[in-house]
Amino acid sequence: MELPEQIRPEYDRWYRFMEDRVEFWHHASIFHTKAHCARVLRFALMIAEKQGLSPADSELLATASVFHDSRRLDDGYDTGHGQRAADYYQEFCEKNGQNFDPLCYHVIYWHDRHDAEGIAAIENLLPRRDNDVLLYQIFKDADALDRFRLGPNGLDVRYLRTDAALELVDYARALWDEECR
Ligand SMILES: [Fe+2]
Ligand SMILES: [Fe+2]
Repeated sequence: MELPEQIRPEYDRWYRFMEDRVEFWHHASIFHTKAHCARVLRFALMIAEKQGLSPADSELLATASVFHDSRRLDDGYDTGHGQRAADYYQEFCEKNGQNFDPLCYHVIYWHDRHDAEGIAAIENLLPRRDNDVLLYQIFKDADALDRFRLGPNGLDVRYLRTDAALELVDYARALWDEECR
């Protein structure tokens, strides 16, 4: 499936960053590989583009995409891998003098929890930021769009949170069919 030209520069930059700089713990993973994170990155950037999000918001979604599953210990629910990945993101920023975004930290931290729990945590952050809850929902949808890797019925579209993600379901299915062919 064609990568939309508008997102190619950002996608390439973040893909390279993940390959070169982000270290994943669970090397034997089947479902939570860098290839998974690259597809999440693609969906997140496509939704950001569709929704006309700011460069800062796209940057947050891209960062969450490349870090979110880097600290998994297994391919099950592994609840807590979000928190570990968020801590890794924070350490990475501190070590490399890179700009740290607290909202991005919480999007990564809460991505493996129920929406109600994650949204409540994000709503408690101060100062609030425009789109904070929406960014969490978009990120979770981008992650969910790659559920076709779990099987043809891996994604239940009723769980998607945003219309922009719903519009990408056919694309996501076709991308997976192409990648596993
Ligand atoms: Fe995850
Ligand atoms: Fe994921």
